[in-house]
Amino acid sequence: MKIDNINVREIFDSRGESTIKITGGNPWFFAEVASGKSRGSREAAVFSYREAVQSLKKLKAHIVYKNFNSIRALDSALIKIDGTEDKSKLGGNVMFGISAAFTRALAKKRGEAVWETMRKEFFPSAAKNNMPLIFSNIINGGAHAENNLDVQEYMVVVKPKSSMIESVRTLIRFYRLLGNVLKKTKKIYNIPIGDEGGYSLNFKNNFEPIAILEKLIKTQHLERRLLIALDAAANSFYKKGMYRFGGRQFATEELATEYIRYFKKSKLLFSLEDPFAETDGRGFALLYRMLPYAWVVGDDLTTTNPQAIKKYADEKTINAVIIKPNQIGTISETCDAIAISRKHKLHVIISHRSGEVDDHFIIHIAKACGSDGVKLGAPTRERIWRLNKLIEVYDR
Ligand code: PGA
Ligand code: ZN
Repeated sequence: MKIDNINVREIFDSRGESTIKITGGNPWFFAEVASGKSRGSREAAVFSYREAVQSLKKLKAHIVYKNFNSIRALDSALIKIDGTEDKSKLGGNVMFGISAAFTRALAKKRGEAVWETMRKEFFPSAAKNNMPLIFSNIINGGAHAENNLDVQEYMVVVKPKSSMIESVRTLIRFYRLLGNVLKKTKKIYNIPIGDEGGYSLNFKNNFEPIAILEKLIKTQHLERRLLIALDAAANSFYKKGMYRFGGRQFATEELATEYIRYFKKSKLLFSLEDPFAETDGRGFALLYRMLPYAWVVGDDLTTTNPQAIKKYADEKTINAVIIKPNQIGTISETCDAIAISRKHKLHVIISHRSGEVDDHFIIHIAKACGSDGVKLGAPTRERIWRLNKLIEVYDR
């Protein structure tokens, strides 16, 4: 397929930060690039709008009116032209935007849904009707909020049932109930909301939100439907080999013991993302050994990089992985990261970013590969659109 033009526009994400949108034709296509705040240091380079304009200028002659018959063919060309590890010549966000936009164009040309086009090329044997767990971040802390929580995300996890709409209804009902409980117990009328739509008031300590979630799940008799997951995003509280957590200093082993205490106190807690800094693989491995039934999830640790995922899976540091396409920069490499995770029997969770945009691409990736989970925000504000798309794509 040939495209006959491609452009970049400046747009703003849900935080009002500048990001980019790739548009073009023919057939008409687009992709908007979300942006992260708690980024892993090994993520692909992010170009400003001005840099993106320059990058596209250089690239145009290599893409427009050239024939690419697959997503991989286009991505290989982009990777070759860029020629760097961290996509710093063309910009990882520019490359991702082009790669996703091209995937959309290809799907349109073939009269397929975007996920169908990706499934045919990358995951022909993916389970057809796999329903993912929904990880929804309903209490925000860390870099995503202005409260006293060190843990960045407290998520409820909705187990799949017969339809996605039922899961989303349960999630919305639970989120509202939680709001009422927090208003009453914390005596706050207007609860502040964090970057991903979660409640972001102050708590007694880092464990209190888990206790509140667990109690509410039990009083609502939702134990069969809802679980609890955390994203510590520990890079943000790691300095000079120590973790500053809950006002105390912890060495790696001590923090692992603290987490184990959390798991002992909460029966519904089952998953912990980035419990240690991205340079502290030893911490992950320690926790994985001590908690063989929990999901120990890599995000900043692995940055959707196929080689990093393989390395940490081989070293038995994680058993689950976050996939964010703009961490690596092209759709093909994202799909390679998923394939390698699968090969190593890691649970795969496709994730949004905290700076959200008006683009559902990640839902298509989840459906294409039959992911084990999708990680989205709280069921409110702009985050609701992703849940609506989830219903549309899965309840067919
Ligand atoms: P982000 O973080 O701000 O980089 O999108 C989300 C996460 O850590 O999962
Ligand atoms: Zn994370």
